[in-house]
Amino acid sequence: MAAALSLHDVTLHFGGVKVLQDVTFDVTPGVILGLVGPNGAGKTSLFNCISGHYRPSAGSITIDGTEVVGTAPARLARLGLARTFQHPALQLDATVLENVLLGGHTRLRGGPVSWSLRLPGTVRAEREIRQEALGLLDRAQLGWAANLPADELSHGLHKGVELCRALLSKPAVLLLDEPAAGLSHGEVEQLIDAVRRVRAEEDITVVVVEHHMGLISALTDRVVVLDHGRLLMEGTAAEAQSDPRVVEAYLGKDATDDAA
Ligand SMILES: Nc1ncnc2c1ncn2[C@@H]1O[C@H](COP(=O)(O)OP(=O)(O)OP(=O)(O)O)[C@@H](O)[C@H]1O
Ligand SMILES: [Mg+2]
Repeated sequence: MAAALSLHDVTLHFGGVKVLQDVTFDVTPGVILGLVGPNGAGKTSLFNCISGHYRPSAGSITIDGTEVVGTAPARLARLGLARTFQHPALQLDATVLENVLLGGHTRLRGGPVSWSLRLPGTVRAEREIRQEALGLLDRAQLGWAANLPADELSHGLHKGVELCRALLSKPAVLLLDEPAAGLSHGEVEQLIDAVRRVRAEEDITVVVVEHHMGLISALTDRVVVLDHGRLLMEGTAAEAQSDPRVVEAYLGKDATDDAA
């Protein structure tokens, strides 16, 4: 079976700065993979390479066996990739529902011409997608906000709206960049339940970047640890947390020496 997502020697340089160096790993279909590492390790940059926002300097990235390096983000969405951002960027003057509906575009057949002609099939599909969007908002306990402008919601709630937008595209591969940042303990628990439920109900593979180790332990099947742009280790969350190299990467060598 082809990996849902496969990275081979992914390297990213900005001028002389080496942001990613020869990063190689596979994600098996249906798995929830944690991508962890200290600030500046390159996690978001790696997501940007996968989602087509950055073009790697070298290396290969495949989604379900298809090479995607050089593919534009909009086309990647049609290939089944969705993501959320570390710093959500919603259309602030649009409503919450309109923001979520942006995730449904990839599921409408035809193009702008058939959409503007409002053919019966398109109208029906739009209605169904709108119902699904409302259902996703309800499940995320955001139904009350559907018709409010997005800028009336807190930062934490923007993350929930972005997740609904990503899920509406029915992705095969979902990338979540720090979904728990800024959430309360109860909201993190809700998020864990929501991602578990999606995995149970859909054919989906998830890669989640998080500093919240409780979420990583509760949610992931495996983790990949990045440090200074390199893959430091791969294993379970428990293995990563007890690996001296990982402890050192998070605390810094001096801190581990001091503790010894
Ligand atoms: N567009 C860019 N131009 C120059 N340098 C960049 C660019 N994007 C990222 N970097 C650099 O790449 C390195 C990794 O940044 P990145 O945001 O990927 O880290 P991260 O692991 O997501 O960190 P955090 O946990 O703080 O979000 C940093 O040194 C950053 O300054
Ligand atoms: Mg980041």
